[in-house]
Amino acid sequence: MSRGPNESLESTNEFVEKSLAGTKRGEKAQLVVTDRDGDFLGLTSVERANTKTPELGLWLKESAQGQGFGPELIFALYKWATENLDVDYFVYRADKENVGSWKIAEKLIAEYGGEYIGEIPEILRGRERLIKTYHLSPKT
Ligand SMILES: CC(C)(COP(=O)(O)OP(=O)(O)OC[C@H]1O[C@@H](n2cnc3c(N)ncnc32)[C@H](O)[C@@H]1OP(=O)(O)O)[C@@H](O)C(=O)NCCC(=O)NCCS
Repeated sequence: MSRGPNESLESTNEFVEKSLAGTKRGEKAQLVVTDRDGDFLGLTSVERANTKTPELGLWLKESAQGQGFGPELIFALYKWATENLDVDYFVYRADKENVGSWKIAEKLIAEYGGEYIGEIPEILRGRERLIKTYHLSPKT
């Protein structure tokens, strides 16, 4: 999932269109996250939902970060996905510098199992990043 703001309204619209089309085709599940009052908090998704190794992702707006929504959200998505999809394992990827993000994967592994695969360098927004990759076992 993208880790920064889109450059333009056009690219945002393109993202929304692609997300809706992919969700309709069953290739992904793109969900909008709101609080109880319906205010927007962020996005979460299952990518490659029609494969044996879907990827779980999330993005929270700045004012929603650091309040525990991330873990709550990914745990709920993981439970939904494990009950509704036939998978070997889930992939979860996080920037090494984004401690809050990879802590979520480590909490899930501690509770339900899985493994840390390692760091893989990737070019993101023009800069090389180390991406920590995890494989999460489906909940049994
Ligand atoms: C990264 C993100 C998903 C984390 O969600 P969050 O709700 O802000 O996460 P939290 O602040 O609850 O942190 C998650 C855990 O990491 C821990 N943590 C966070 N930052 C930490 C740090 N610098 N050092 C040690 N632990 C840290 C928290 O204490 C928490 O653990 P706990 O539940 O045991 O208390 C969210 O901030 C986000 O969407 N950020 C911007 C977009 C982004 O980076 N998306 C990519 C995600 S792959």
